[in-house]
Amino acid sequence: MRQSARTDVKKRYCIAITNQKGGEGKTTTAINLSCALAGMGHKTLLADLDPQANSSGIFANPDRLELSLYNVFSGTSTLKEIIVGTEVENLDLAPSKITLAEIESAGVNVDAPYVIRDAFQSVPEYDFIIMDCPPSLSIFTINALVAATHVVIPAQAEKFSIDGMTGLRNTINSIKRRINPDLAIAGALLTQLKPNTVLSKTIMPVISDFFPVFKTSISEGVAIGESHLARKNIFMYAPESRQAKEYLTFTEELIGELEA
Ligand SMILES: Nc1ncnc2c1ncn2[C@@H]1O[C@H](COP(=O)(O)OP(=O)(O)OP(=O)(O)O)[C@@H](O)[C@H]1O
Ligand SMILES: [Mg+2]
Repeated sequence: MRQSARTDVKKRYCIAITNQKGGEGKTTTAINLSCALAGMGHKTLLADLDPQANSSGIFANPDRLELSLYNVFSGTSTLKEIIVGTEVENLDLAPSKITLAEIESAGVNVDAPYVIRDAFQSVPEYDFIIMDCPPSLSIFTINALVAATHVVIPAQAEKFSIDGMTGLRNTINSIKRRINPDLAIAGALLTQLKPNTVLSKTIMPVISDFFPVFKTSISEGVAIGESHLARKNIFMYAPESRQAKEYLTFTEELIGELEA
């Protein structure tokens, strides 16, 4: 990956990558944004809040990990105790496991929405914390939105992607109003874009009615699926691919916006 000199950021950013619709590119974005930030020299933590553990699986074998965010939610370990290093310099992982799903069925106590926000206070050493969220407005997504300074919403330019946006916007606004007044929407990132299709062109303005849309978008390409299969980030798997360049440009655009 292109290593550039570290440019210090003014404050620490906690970014929830969220969209309650499945398959919109949340995990792909969480993995590659985290790696791009780490490659720029920022100390970064990827927190996998999805019981599917897809982003954890890129960096570790979740079945072999003893501890995960399950232990943080169940109060049996601290966040520091469950964090593991990755092969990417400056990037650590707070892994998930399928057992995380049990937290939801175990019933929710009054502290439940604040578990992650409280835990993040114990790791001030990270410049960026990136949260990969599940495809639901579950307690894990609520935790992410309560802990976040910013939200990034990956979205495909498709009709069904639009349908859930009212619900997502309402959830973000209600958390902002009640619990986290500083929560800001960084923007929607168009993913898996088929360039120059009529559909993409018609849907883009509709999405921008809901959320600001990043100038950079991520095009559809086989390198992404292949990189997941190879359990690598896109910068390691195909550094010259169009998607690697787009994820780097997106990261630069995001930092520019955060710091503005
Ligand atoms: N730019 C892209 N080009 C081609 N395929 C992509 C691209 N981005 C994501 N995909 C593929 O789309 C699928 C969904 O992506 P991803 O897992 O990142 O979405 P998700 O929102 O995290 O899904 P879930 O809601 O299940 O957690 C994956 O198979 C992934 O490989
Ligand atoms: Mg995912």
